[in-house]
This record gives sequence, structure tokens and C-alpha cells, in this order.
Amino acid sequence: MKMKQAGQKIVVLTSYDASFTRVIEAAGVDVILVGDSLGMVVQGQESTLPVRVEDMVYHTQNVARARRRCLLVADMPFMSYSSVEQALSTAGCLMKEGGAHMVKLEGGATQLKTVEQLADHGIPVCAHLGLLPQSVHKLGGYRVQGRDQESAAVMKEDALSLQNVGAQMLVLECVPTGLAAEISALLDIPVIGIGAGVDCDGQVLVIYDMLGISGEEYLPRFVKNFMPTADSIQGAVANYVEAVRTGHFPGDEQSFS
Ligand code: KIV
Repeated sequence: MKMKQAGQKIVVLTSYDASFTRVIEAAGVDVILVGDSLGMVVQGQESTLPVRVEDMVYHTQNVARARRRCLLVADMPFMSYSSVEQALSTAGCLMKEGGAHMVKLEGGATQLKTVEQLADHGIPVCAHLGLLPQSVHKLGGYRVQGRDQESAAVMKEDALSLQNVGAQMLVLECVPTGLAAEISALLDIPVIGIGAGVDCDGQVLVIYDMLGISGEEYLPRFVKNFMPTADSIQGAVANYVEAVRTGHFPGDEQSFS
């Protein structure tokens, strides 16, 4: 919140183990996300859907053991927050056993009651709007969201409502730059973009994507490989940090209109 108020860009990167966590911390990243993207980049699954709470706890523990400075956010996996009671139980595991500081969940209006209850129980929540990978089959694929007036208006309303019920951070994935800029200006909480343009309060990438080793045949347009211009993994992560801080990443070529 202080960084947003001071106009400082927030640098977020995923990590799933202790060694990458040490590299990330040394490079000056602000927030580590143990994303359920681990289903694809670590487990080799086709989507994030098969990821279990046990998997998230295990990887969050690995990261927490090496973490010294960064805020540690852990994803609530698919179907682990389909009722308020289940969400409280999942968030409890991620925080008590995993060592997470904040939990992230996907969805707008349908999640308001859950976010409110989590916040009321002292659990910091990061919401996630735009492209929701856990709803990939409902969305019919990984596509840019909020391009028409109606869906843009719904996203703005959802973002405000999530903040009003207690969300303390918001991830916007695959959203046109102009809409993401509007939502970032509208909210007091930090808005972290991935494929959402340069005007968000911060940026997040999957670490294996930005190191060019995720092995995916198709890489989304919002990904930039920072390895070719660096002489080490540490250097590539440091270049990512610098590019986000100075507003050089993402460029137009990693953004959507
Ligand atoms: O799972 C993940 O890594 C994420 C980011 C891509 C935002 O949710």
C-alpha cells in the first residue's frame, strides 16, 4: 500500500522452491507468489486445475524456509474455496502449515462473501480478475478479457467490490492496457498486472517463463525472456526488477489494446 501511495512500482515474481527464492530476494523483488502455475511449469500438467492444496502447502513451505524479506503470497488452488468454510480451511493450511502471508483466489462477484469472511478472520487476500486460468474451460481458452464495454464495466465493478469487502491486492491478467490503467487509478489497493499493460501498480511473471525455460510450446504474448541479455539467472531477475521499476516492462509488444 505504501509503495502504491509513493508511486513506486511493485515487482512480483513466482517461486516454488528455496533456491529460486534466494535468487529472487537477492535481486530485489518485493513479492513472491507461489502460483498454482506450478501445476504447469513444475508438475507438467496441461492446466492449473489438477493442483491440490497439499501441493501448494509443500511448495509454499519450500519458499518460506528461504524467504527473509519478500511478502509471500500463495494461490488457493481450483475447487479449494468453493464455500466460505472450505476457503477458511484452505487459507488456514496455506498460512499455518505453508507460512504464507496472503492468499490469492480467482473471481469477482461470486467471491465477495468469501473474501469478506477471509478478511474478517485476519487473512490478507489478493483477488484475481481478467483471465482466470482456473476457469479456462468455461472461458473457452486463454483469451484477453474485458475488451467490450459490458465486460469492462463488470470488471471495474468487481474490482471495486472486492476492495470494499477487504481484498488488499488485485492481480489483473490479460486485460487491455487502458482498462487496467482505469482500474489501477480507481482502487486504493495495489493492482499487479500480467498482460495488463505498464500502468498497473506492479507486474508479475512466472519465473520459468521470464528465464525462457518453461518448456511451453506456446508462450503468451505478455511474457518476456530476460535471459538472452543477461549473463546469469541472477542477472536476468535483476534486469526484470529494473525494467518493472523504471516502467520499461511491459512494453507495447507485451501488452493488449
Ligand atoms: O499461478 C500463477 O502463477 C499466477 C500468476 C500468473 C498471476 O496466478
